[in-house]
Amino acid sequence: MFKLKGSLLISGDKSISHRALILSAMSIGKTRISNLLESDDVIRTLNILQNLGIKIIKNKKEWIVFGNGTNGFIEPDRALNCGNSGTTARLMIGAVSSNPINCTFVGDNSLSKRSMSRVTLHLEKIGANVQLTNKDYLPLMISGTDQLLPMTHKIQKASAQVKSALILAALNIHGKTRIIENVLTRDHTERLLKFLGVKVNIKKINNIRNEIELNGPIEIKSKNIEVAGDPSSASFFVVGALITPNSKIILKNIMLNPSRIAFLKILKKMGGKIKIKKTKKICGEEVGNITAEYSKLKGIKIPSSSSAFLIDEYPILSIAASQAKGKTVMKGLNELRYKESDRIRSIIYNFKNLGIDVHEKNNNLSINGKKLELEKSIKIKSFDDHRIAMSFSILNILCQNKLKIDNQKCIAISYPDFKKHLKFLLKKSNA
Ligand code: S3P
Repeated sequence: MFKLKGSLLISGDKSISHRALILSAMSIGKTRISNLLESDDVIRTLNILQNLGIKIIKNKKEWIVFGNGTNGFIEPDRALNCGNSGTTARLMIGAVSSNPINCTFVGDNSLSKRSMSRVTLHLEKIGANVQLTNKDYLPLMISGTDQLLPMTHKIQKASAQVKSALILAALNIHGKTRIIENVLTRDHTERLLKFLGVKVNIKKINNIRNEIELNGPIEIKSKNIEVAGDPSSASFFVVGALITPNSKIILKNIMLNPSRIAFLKILKKMGGKIKIKKTKKICGEEVGNITAEYSKLKGIKIPSSSSAFLIDEYPILSIAASQAKGKTVMKGLNELRYKESDRIRSIIYNFKNLGIDVHEKNNNLSINGKKLELEKSIKIKSFDDHRIAMSFSILNILCQNKLKIDNQKCIAISYPDFKKHLKFLLKKSNA
């Protein structure tokens, strides 16, 4: 038997790493970025910015970005390859749209099945010219212009990527752009812009809606950026410690943005012994340490109103639910259908193979906890989805490595050091 013990510094946050690169490329002057997450997704954004004429170099542990301003992208001489990364595609489509250049965006198989019209419909309304594959998908061609119109956008489906794409476009639009989001989503773009001295007006409407206003064109002066640890990456080890007897871990330097740590509240409600200690603020984001130890978890109901703040953590929350006493119901998971894999399907497929009682109706998922006593190896399909592969790697601690997970390479999409970090925390348990 194994347990998780010790303290660990988690790698940099993926969402902030993308934004740090893009916003420093759109600043005037030189930015030093420290603790950038060097995952496949983030490197896609970095390479695309280089294809758009931005000089980016690595110096020891830091990345140095030589920004060209909000109207500074140069027409690329090749297609911009976003690989597996939805954040790269959606944010970069927004960023280039208000520059007078033509760009072609392409992606891998999974990304080519994910909707891009959720961004481009807004951009077409304000004057960008876009040609999509089958009206919704990559490959797409966009002809941007520095004459896009300032307008009010209403975002119906919760999406931080769509919101961020429109904010990035607005940086080079003459006049007031207003963005209304009906459901609050992660706000790293807004926070980083404020840290960089940009005036972003944010009005909360009834605590569930936001109105974001920017008056462009905006000149951003470069400022060095430090990236805090990724709470979504931390969530795997937090759940690992909660479900594995005799475990206790401390995860350090974790970004504690309220829109990203809702999973901790949920796990506490399930009976998880978790402590959070705020230590400092980095580039507009609260940062601190998380302690988690083995706990007897119980099933709970998770309402759909929390789903935008839990979007990346449902796979690992499902693992927690599978080891809790009783039934957990997760409501309103519609958006999980459109991630790197159809995550509802990926979870159900593997749980059924493990004999875990799982049901789905109208995108609500219910899971009955079950102690796993496997006699033989069981194949797990990752569906090439990094968060599915990592979630089942955590369950594998309890299954004494009997889960044979295919394509674990995909973990490098968001957390290249995951295996190394897991090995570091794993200790032999005498009990
Ligand atoms: C992200 C937003 C979320 C999330 C993704 C990263 C971001 O997607 O799932 O991993 O960095 O803006 P949506 O905005 O599409 O929900």
